[in-house]
Amino acid sequence: MAVLSVDDLTVAYGEQTVFSNLSFSINDGDFLIVVGENGVGKTTLVRALLGLIKPKSGTITFPKDTRIGYVPQFRNLDEEYPLSIRDFVALNSRRSHLPWLTKKERHDLNRMIRITDLTKIADRPLGLASGGEKQRAYLAQALLPNPRLLILDESTASLDNEMKYNLLDLVTRFQQNGLSVMFITHDWDLARHYGTRYLHMKADGYETGSIDEIDYLQQEVDG
Ligand SMILES: Nc1ncnc2c1ncn2[C@@H]1O[C@H](COP(=O)(O)OP(=O)(O)OP(=O)(O)O)[C@@H](O)[C@H]1O
Ligand SMILES: [Mg+2]
Repeated sequence: MAVLSVDDLTVAYGEQTVFSNLSFSINDGDFLIVVGENGVGKTTLVRALLGLIKPKSGTITFPKDTRIGYVPQFRNLDEEYPLSIRDFVALNSRRSHLPWLTKKERHDLNRMIRITDLTKIADRPLGLASGGEKQRAYLAQALLPNPRLLILDESTASLDNEMKYNLLDLVTRFQQNGLSVMFITHDWDLARHYGTRYLHMKADGYETGSIDEIDYLQQEVDG
């Protein structure tokens, strides 16, 4: 079943069209790799999917009540950032209108902090965490409301190789429970290792297909 269907989508900033007539879908359990040159419109696509920019034309369809988790491409957190890792993750935990967390919310929060291996450092300021620790905190925050679709915009770009695989292994544990993933990356090895399908955005169009075609795709892109 599709968790996202994009049909004939055209997005523009003012007069400048970023991409046009884009169609693709993401099904349950898919790990969609999105590749394409800098500036081709990958982050713009994400912003359209999240409802942050209004498409010029076309449709974006989710099943009713689909929750989306999102880890953005860049975040400027300076060392003075006031929240602890726990408080930062908890920003996504409140479902009631109470000013405190319910017992269940606290339980789910602690569980997520444990799964993402943040327990030991949860009370430290997020601003002082390492790059990898920050990424795990972003991921924990995005996954906490139990989304159906997780969008990662180059979330591994600043990590060392081992950390990249750790982070995405973590994501695949949720994938087994029905999470679908859209992963924007320039890393072919990660694409090959985790992807099930790809979307290749190009200046003059796009291609989608099975990850089995990735060697051909890499050749086409890298030349
Ligand atoms: N708010 C905006 N107003 C006008 N143009 C914008 C805006 N945001 C992005 N653009 C332009 O839209 C195009 C697509 O940008 P986008 O950030 O989606 O690219 P991208 O594929 O994510 O690139 P990268 O791989 O570098 O992250 C670029 O030419 C960019 O300059
Ligand atoms: Mg981008």
